Amino acid sequence: MNEQYAATEAAATRTAVPSLILQGVTRSFGEGAERIEIFHDLTSQIMPGEIVALVGPSGSGKSSLLHIAGLLEPPTSGTVVINGRDCSKLNDEERTAIRRTQLGFVYQFHHLLPEFNALENVAMPQMIAGRRRKDAETIAGRLLTMVGLQHRLTHRPGKLSGGEQQRVAIARALANQPRLILADEPTGNLDPRTADMVFGILVETARARGVSALIATHNLQMAVKMDRTWLLHNGKLIDAGKLKP
Ligand SMILES: Nc1ncnc2c1ncn2[C@@H]1O[C@H](COP(=O)(O)OP(=O)(O)OP(=O)(O)O)[C@@H](O)[C@H]1O
Ligand SMILES: [Mg+2]
Repeated sequence: MNEQYAATEAAATRTAVPSLILQGVTRSFGEGAERIEIFHDLTSQIMPGEIVALVGPSGSGKSSLLHIAGLLEPPTSGTVVINGRDCSKLNDEERTAIRRTQLGFVYQFHHLLPEFNALENVAMPQMIAGRRRKDAETIAGRLLTMVGLQHRLTHRPGKLSGGEQQRVAIARALANQPRLILADEPTGNLDPRTADMVFGILVETARARGVSALIATHNLQMAVKMDRTWLLHNGKLIDAGKLKP
């Protein structure tokens, strides 16, 4: 990279709006003596195009943090800002709109619709967001080709392997051109080789489209391949930067 280009890119990064900002985010369950605090006063951000690993022991709050970042539940206190929009005061409808248009979700168990084939599963969220069926299916076909499933478009989830189902879920998460992907152990139920392949596809497709991502994983080999790692430990978030292999 030449110096002028590097300087331009650095300036662009400085002026870009973060895809995700967490400001003083706390999550607790229960009241009074029963109250347990999972994490306290977390502050961090993800810039456009950045891919961040979320690691931490079981029970440290990775899924809870992803739910909060994905506007599926509110923090006990603190603020979540998505693409510059403070989400703390939005109503249900506005939150749903942001989830549909700006966020993409990939879960450990893909949550595909069993009655619909791969193409329909990827077309569906686009149609819910208002796209015509024909256009939605064209885009779905393109995304499924990108994750290597051009020969499985008309298979229902039950006729796909675990890795193939997870790749459909990745295509679906990208279908409405989100700015941020949130993934909770997306390869957690796959054998190590398939997990590696599916994970590679997730990171490559996110990079190719300039989408940022926050990906919870127990696998440090995978965290090493991401731009930065957030470690959740004892209720705190430590930004461990780029992990060395
Ligand atoms: N609805 C709830 N009520 C009470 N406690 C909860 C609730 N949901 C989660 N917790 C607690 O919050 C803590 C964090 O859970 P979370 O699922 O976020 O952990 P995690 O880091 O994703 O763990 P894992 O790696 O096992 O998936 C756990 O101790 C869990 O028991
Ligand atoms: Mg979890």
